[in-house]
Amino acid sequence: MPRFDVTIAGELNLDLILHGLPEPLPPEREVLADRMTLTLGSSSAIVAHNLAALGSRVGFQSRIGDDPLGQIALDRLSEAGVDVSLVRRAPGPIKSGLTVILQHPGGRNILTYSGTIAELRVSDLDLEYLSSARHFHFSSFYLQSGLRASVPELFQKLKAAGLTISLDTNDDPDDRWQGGLRDALRYVDVFLPNAREACRIAGTDDLEKAVAQLAELVSTVVVKMGGEGAIAVRGKEKFRSPARSVTPVDPVGAGDSFDAGFLHQYIRGADLPLCLAYGNLAGAFSTTRPGGTEAFRDREYRKVFFREHGGNVLAR
Ligand SMILES: Nc1ncnc2c1ncn2[C@@H]1O[C@H](COP(=O)(O)OP(=O)(O)O)[C@@H](O)[C@H]1O
Ligand SMILES: [Mg+2]
Repeated sequence: MPRFDVTIAGELNLDLILHGLPEPLPPEREVLADRMTLTLGSSSAIVAHNLAALGSRVGFQSRIGDDPLGQIALDRLSEAGVDVSLVRRAPGPIKSGLTVILQHPGGRNILTYSGTIAELRVSDLDLEYLSSARHFHFSSFYLQSGLRASVPELFQKLKAAGLTISLDTNDDPDDRWQGGLRDALRYVDVFLPNAREACRIAGTDDLEKAVAQLAELVSTVVVKMGGEGAIAVRGKEKFRSPARSVTPVDPVGAGDSFDAGFLHQYIRGADLPLCLAYGNLAGAFSTTRPGGTEAFRDREYRKVFFREHGGNVLAR
């Protein structure tokens, strides 16, 4: 049996969320927030954390700066049971990435310092370590600019080693959706965009057309649709699963939590309807606390929520 269920190579950083700011934000004034949350950020790390919290064995490779924020992010992953033994701490002027989220009545400002996120290179990765799993997941294709050009070759090698592969590009800040994405998709078994991303990648505003087009490239396409749940297409088969009814507090990390829930079942050989339902359960759960991992960190809360909201899913 391989050492891990899932390995992930990707970015690792914190989110600092300031809640309850006024609108507009005046310059040159001392503006007071009424609450703050310092929490694990970054798609790759949130997927890793939540997969481990659900009970999968996860190995994670990344590069962080030699700074206290990088250490806190690393500790969060370790606490969830993720193996971080090969995360590289690179000394030098480039610090671990950080996202500052300013929440105010008009919406949110999201400010990101990429730091070491863009610095991760294929030479930082240990192919033998990443291969010692059943499945490999890759997130944030466009933020990981130092790794992106090597992704198709990395996928090809991992596939040759017998792993299945999933990809969640997340957003492309340049909104161009190039950079070898189609080359990478040739090796992907499960592609996990949200509805907007699926449309942008396919170059159409018609989600149905976008999904049909993507399904020609990837064997299983799963599209996340926020409060409307998710759909999956595999060949001629199509499945739809409604969102779980919750009162959302914060949508940050819902898509990554969905990925964790979906993949937790997928690697166990579950059928697509169950994978989708479990993804929706994990995504909804994430929205009930700030950030992408705060809900998952609370083991008791997780048990109660999954029992109350997951009855028919877990009973299968
Ligand atoms: N308001 C909500 N109520 C219930 N579930 C939600 C809600 N928002 C998101 N989710 C769950 O999280 C998943 C991912 O959210 P979505 O916003 O589509 O992805 P992303 O975070 O990648 O943009 C959804 O498919 C759904 O299962
Ligand atoms: Mg997403």
